[in-house]
Amino acid sequence: MSERPYVIDEMISAKTIAARIEELCVSIRDEFHDTDQLVVVGLLRGSFVFIADLVRELDLPVEVDFLEASSYGNSMESSREVRILKDLRGRVEGRDVLIVEDIVDTGHTLKHVTGLLGSRNPGRLRTIALLDKPSRRETDVTADWIGFSIPDEFVVGYGIDFAQRNRNLPYIGKVRFAD
Ligand code: IMP
Repeated sequence: MSERPYVIDEMISAKTIAARIEELCVSIRDEFHDTDQLVVVGLLRGSFVFIADLVRELDLPVEVDFLEASSYGNSMESSREVRILKDLRGRVEGRDVLIVEDIVDTGHTLKHVTGLLGSRNPGRLRTIALLDKPSRRETDVTADWIGFSIPDEFVVGYGIDFAQRNRNLPYIGKVRFAD
């Protein structure tokens, strides 16, 4: 699939993303203003750029941890079966947790991870996704905060890949095959 030539059309600029993160952080700070320490859980690997910008804008006492769930592999199709490839290093029992996802597509990943961390008896458990593709949803999950709702397009950049490429683009672009 990745051998097919494609171009990337900018969909959301770096400036627009930064402005939206500022807005989101006002609301997140409001929700967690009284937290002792917020455990910000990034879902690897797609959320690594988002979580970096998010925690620097948050201005709350945070701990950062990561969890890796199985994703698309090298294909553009989502899979219903979610497996945990790397679990958290720290404990979340009794602690406030914010799960950070890059894209909610079918919703299977976020639903699975929310269920898993929810079963560990955290304090407040909230979710944020940079992007949401509501038309693709196969589950009843919705993130508490959403950066941008987008149509059913395959996107890359700002941490998000296509066959491990394009994560380092500073903007979100949509993949368009040349032929
Ligand atoms: P879900 O379980 O179907 O919601 O899939 C979520 C995961 O699929 C995201 O965390 C991404 O890793 C991946 N994904 C969904 N849409 C895209 C896309 O447009 N580009 C790249 N990865 C995507």
